[in-house]
Amino acid sequence: MKQIQWFPGHMFKSLREIKEKLKLMDIVYILLDARIPYSSMNPNVLEIVGVKPTLLLFNKIDLADHNQTKRWTKYYEEQGFYTLEIDAQSGKNVSMIYEKSLEILSDKIARQKSKGMQQQAIRAMIMGIPNVGKSTLINQMTKTKATKTGNKPGVTKAQQWVKINDQFELLDTPGVLWPKFDLEQVGYSLAITGAIKDTILPIDDVVYHAVEHLKQYYPKQLMERYELTSLDKEFIEILDEIGKRRGALLKGNEIDYERVYSILLTDIRNKHLGGLTFDRYDKLISISR
Ligand code: G4P
Repeated sequence: MKQIQWFPGHMFKSLREIKEKLKLMDIVYILLDARIPYSSMNPNVLEIVGVKPTLLLFNKIDLADHNQTKRWTKYYEEQGFYTLEIDAQSGKNVSMIYEKSLEILSDKIARQKSKGMQQQAIRAMIMGIPNVGKSTLINQMTKTKATKTGNKPGVTKAQQWVKINDQFELLDTPGVLWPKFDLEQVGYSLAITGAIKDTILPIDDVVYHAVEHLKQYYPKQLMERYELTSLDKEFIEILDEIGKRRGALLKGNEIDYERVYSILLTDIRNKHLGGLTFDRYDKLISISR
């Protein structure tokens, strides 16, 4: 794909800052969008986190295709990451983040104990690409925990640690990462799910890729949602049929394609076609290798 300025330069510059903050952490949480577990992963993640224990949080599982989520979690676990599926909006599995962190850090904790040291609070921070749900998760984790523990030396003034419990502190500002740029498919995955603005890629291209994906992997959901009689049609014919059914018409009964695009993207993003994953494990892993 051509060089695309999807993300502002400051995001890349923040890398040094993130690395600085990481020194203070016992564990890092990288949020992935479960609908696009490949495209929402930062390409430099291993370089960024180094040997720091890393838990990949598959967020928005409510919107994703459960079977694909299982394939992707397995894939990342095989790469040495820990994984947990969550829904930051409803709070599903959010309380498990702490339990999982204890498990991951159990050796370190046991070592401290054996040296007669008092158990230190676990310090963690959340990182991820824009719109992946970082603020939602921080709010969810800190909702009932109003106690801010104040500034700690070495951290920028504005940053606060929030005490989740006696043994667990979270940095209240997330680290903003950038996504992968390597494949054309990535741009479409980011656009379809709303991770990048609708104005960045041509909307007709984005919807074309979305419809092709639905035709191939979720034909039943597509047909049922729009009461389509067949999918053995050109893209434009499918848009026409949806436009007619939904009354997305201009004067003279011409199809209002802009409205059809908006109907499709809104329905996809709001789960009106059920759980959907746009990064297919089988497809992406074979072409990215
Ligand atoms: P960020 O800090 O990483 O940039 O993301 P943020 O928390 O702002 O979340 C981006 C959008 O994703 C928000 O929706 C948020 O509600 C939604 N979101 C976060 N986690 C989940 C999840 O697990 N499931 C679902 N379904 N949605 C999630 P928004 O449309 O921008 O705002 P709003 O709908 O909350 O008003």
